[in-house]
Amino acid sequence: MAALKVLFVFLLTVAAAHSQSFHLGSCPKPSTQKDFSVAKYMGTWYEIEKLPAAFERGKCVQATYTLLENGTVNVHNQDLLSNGKISSIEGVAKVKDPSQPAILAVSFFKGVSDAPYWVLSTDYQSYSLVYSCSDVLGIFHIDFAWILARTRVLTEDIIGQLHDQLAAAGVDVNRLTVTNQTGCDVTTQ
Ligand SMILES: *[C@@H]1O[C@H](CO)[C@@H](O)[C@H](O)[C@H]1NC(C)=O
Ligand SMILES: *[C@@H]1O[C@H](CO)[C@@H](O)[C@H](O)[C@H]1NC(C)=O
Repeated sequence: MAALKVLFVFLLTVAAAHSQSFHLGSCPKPSTQKDFSVAKYMGTWYEIEKLPAAFERGKCVQATYTLLENGTVNVHNQDLLSNGKISSIEGVAKVKDPSQPAILAVSFFKGVSDAPYWVLSTDYQSYSLVYSCSDVLGIFHIDFAWILARTRVLTEDIIGQLHDQLAAAGVDVNRLTVTNQTGCDVTTQ
């Protein structure tokens, strides 16, 4: 029990240090996009806002999804570092339960457990709202959220609606940070 307490404090400290979003209790289960089509979701998405994630530091953050023949999705994330270099990482995403097509699991490293990727809502052509939450020891949960768009800007109107949806899912929208998507020509293909 003492060891568990130490671990708990350690995890809280780590989570706080990385300014991730952690809360007591287990993950909320927000509703996801109805009749989600992975095929229509493929292509490039630009990150407009996100819940702080320590592992993404650059600007001009974008993700390109490609559907492979075996039904898995290739994930290619890119961002522009402050030194002008493009950093990129490849991963794999897949739908684990066909009855819940808007719930994907993404993994970037072999041997590391995959992360949930819940598409809460998307119109496929302009915006997508993504939520990711992981339970830790059944004591607390850490969550992430992203507002993505097909272009580097999204109207305030849509952003406002997506904030409302996130708030309904229990996410503190004041913690969202805006991703810099200006001066990104270098990452445009
Ligand atoms: C799907 O296909 C890709 C590309 O050919 C391959 O790398 C991956 O291992 C395959 N995944 C599964 C689950 O078959
Ligand atoms: C975004 O990046 C551009 C180009 O590097 C820079 O000029 C601008 O100040 C940045 N904006 C913010 C809000 O940091």
